[in-house]
Amino acid sequence: MALSGLGLVIYVIFHMLGNLQVFEGPLVFNGYAALLRDMPIPLWAARIGLLSLAALHIVLAIQLTSRNRQARPIAYAVREYRQASFASRTMATSGFVLLLFILFHLLHLTAGVIDPSSVDRPDVEGHRDVYGKVVHAFQNPFIVAFYLAGQLGLGLHLSHAVTSSLQTLGLEYVAFNRLFKAAGPTVALVVVLGNVAIILAIFLGLVRG
Ligand code: HEM
Repeated sequence: MALSGLGLVIYVIFHMLGNLQVFEGPLVFNGYAALLRDMPIPLWAARIGLLSLAALHIVLAIQLTSRNRQARPIAYAVREYRQASFASRTMATSGFVLLLFILFHLLHLTAGVIDPSSVDRPDVEGHRDVYGKVVHAFQNPFIVAFYLAGQLGLGLHLSHAVTSSLQTLGLEYVAFNRLFKAAGPTVALVVVLGNVAIILAIFLGLVRG
């Protein structure tokens, strides 16, 4: 779970960094989107890798949860948490919210099913106008609300997942323990702030079509 999760975290970080190019305007953003699409072999390798990692991660999460339940079939009469953070106790819920978000996001921006007006049109350079699609999307308050809820799930999930994966991989050195503990919340904060900046900048009209 730790390795598949870290693979997905790396994708989410690069995806956010790439999407920040929306602040550079349509030509840069659409040029970047075209560059990714113009390399079909690496693109499909990355897509298949991503899908396999996500599927593996979900199957292992279900197995782990059911093994935990089998280990203690009778629930505790009183639950008193000493160490476990809110993020660690809600991993299944935040993971489920994240899964719903990703399905929605793919149907919305990649497949254009949620909003049929959000289809691929060419820009002045003949590239797919992905910039126009993203700007159009975040002018809609319902879409904005859904994406912000997704960011809450993403932030909570990442905040526990990154630190926990580093521990699972055995990266526990006294000198670095505070750094590893801070890694999860830091990655979560940076990714969520980057994504929320894109969503709100468009919604508030700071980035326009
Ligand atoms: C504000 C946040 C986000 C924005 C603006 C955004 C934007 C985009 C755009 C423009 C595309 C490509 C659509 C196209 O080519 O027509 C895309 C694809 C995708 N996004 Fe996002 N995204 C965001 C957040 C996320 C998050 C948090 C995840 C994962 C947890 C994610 C996962 C994906 C995946 C898996 C694809 C499909 C990649 C592919 O088709 O090769 N996105 N996103």
